[in-house]
Amino acid sequence: MGSALLLFGATGDLARRMLLPSLFGLDADGLLPAGMRIIGTARSRLDGEAYRDVARKALAEHIDAERLVAATVDAFLARLDYVPLDATDPAAFAPLAEAIGDADLSIFLSTAPSLFGATIAGLQAAGLARPGVRLALEKPLGADLASSRAINDQVATAFSEAQTFRIDHYLGKETVQNLIALRFGNVLFEPLWNTAGIDHVQITVSETVGLEGRGDYYDGMGALRDMVQNHMLQLVALVAMEPPARFDATAVRDEKVKVLRSLRPIDAASVESCSVIGQYTEGASAGQPVPGYTSELGKPSTTETFVALKLHVDNWRWKNVPFYLRTGKRLPERHSEITIQFKTVPHSIFATRSGPLRPNRLVIRLQPHENIRLSIMAKEPGLDRDGVRLREVPLDIGLANAFADVRRRIAYERLLLDLLAGDPTLFVRRDEVEAQWTWIDGIRAGWKTAGMTPKPYGAGTWGPSAAIALTERDGVSWYD
Ligand code: BG6
Repeated sequence: MGSALLLFGATGDLARRMLLPSLFGLDADGLLPAGMRIIGTARSRLDGEAYRDVARKALAEHIDAERLVAATVDAFLARLDYVPLDATDPAAFAPLAEAIGDADLSIFLSTAPSLFGATIAGLQAAGLARPGVRLALEKPLGADLASSRAINDQVATAFSEAQTFRIDHYLGKETVQNLIALRFGNVLFEPLWNTAGIDHVQITVSETVGLEGRGDYYDGMGALRDMVQNHMLQLVALVAMEPPARFDATAVRDEKVKVLRSLRPIDAASVESCSVIGQYTEGASAGQPVPGYTSELGKPSTTETFVALKLHVDNWRWKNVPFYLRTGKRLPERHSEITIQFKTVPHSIFATRSGPLRPNRLVIRLQPHENIRLSIMAKEPGLDRDGVRLREVPLDIGLANAFADVRRRIAYERLLLDLLAGDPTLFVRRDEVEAQWTWIDGIRAGWKTAGMTPKPYGAGTWGPSAAIALTERDGVSWYD
């Protein structure tokens, strides 16, 4: 019967930048099922040949030239076919069903959510929502709890939860999975991984890019919903969760959802002390002048392009341990990092001239260069006639060096492979998404009641100065 991957939104940005290059990467390593066909579909009236051209260009643009061996590229392109489709026309699904036949089927929906309903109805009517078919959904899955429920309900009319694979591409990132390995593959950290050992946690996802022509989507969302609701809350859940009994979809997601449900609500009474929002104005990025958000957008807007939050996970483990989160567009550099700041030693045995003892810090860098670094205090070499001198030094778990011969994969490679294999561990379950939206909706309602609007920050800076005050009030500095 063979197998097939059906790609909705096959000519779109995500398909060209991420999905086709990922599928190529998997195919080049012999990881795609033999004979698996990849059937693209979108509104454009292309034929198979024209779509293979689109794919060839996408690979040339997004894959290093030395990996583009002609025979490998041709073998990959030979898997591709294309069926044009207007998702709003139920009759249009019949040719698709015919092209797929009885293949073992995975479907990837990377289209505007406004088309989800019609697409799912069309798939069902054409007999493509049969048992065993796996459906991957790309964000945005709603703009609040109500709309997310509506989408999930629509999906559930045709696909069971076990067939539904909600993508959060952060879960496909190597270092995010490494966080699980670090926590639960080592005895070293877990005994300290709680309120007794940890002072606070910071998570920064900073980007240098601005709107990137995505104004239609982004202006309706803002940083809180674009980045915090999904990626950053998933990181919080992985940092804060209890040890799952095993690395499987139910155990891991059960633990994550408990964290998401334990987030202390931020409401009108606490938004001003627990959140800061900003919008970039003109400034510089990589040494070049760049316009402000509203000029890029071409209209006035009160959408936040920066958000910083102080949150608490209200349970025994995390009592009194703040989590500080910040993310934004047009910040000075692109990096994503989790910092675990441990407590200071209870008493220093060293003379004051050795300087203050700095608390240990574990920095998990997701990008651009994945790395895990533990900073510890060490003795400075010397005869110490006036007492021992200490200095903070890093212990690098330099992933780049330790695993130098391993190619870094695109997050979607892992996720696509798991989708094909039907393993949902790194996909987001409905209860997780809904817990995330519940908490996010509370913050947005709080902003509205409190009349909070974004403060300006110059492009190329670390957000409004209030974001610095958010942590400094607690005696904490953002780790840059
Ligand atoms: C997406 C957001 O989900 O994640 C984008 O919609 C953002 O606004 C992107 O730029 C960041 O992903 P990454 O993998 O580059 O950190």
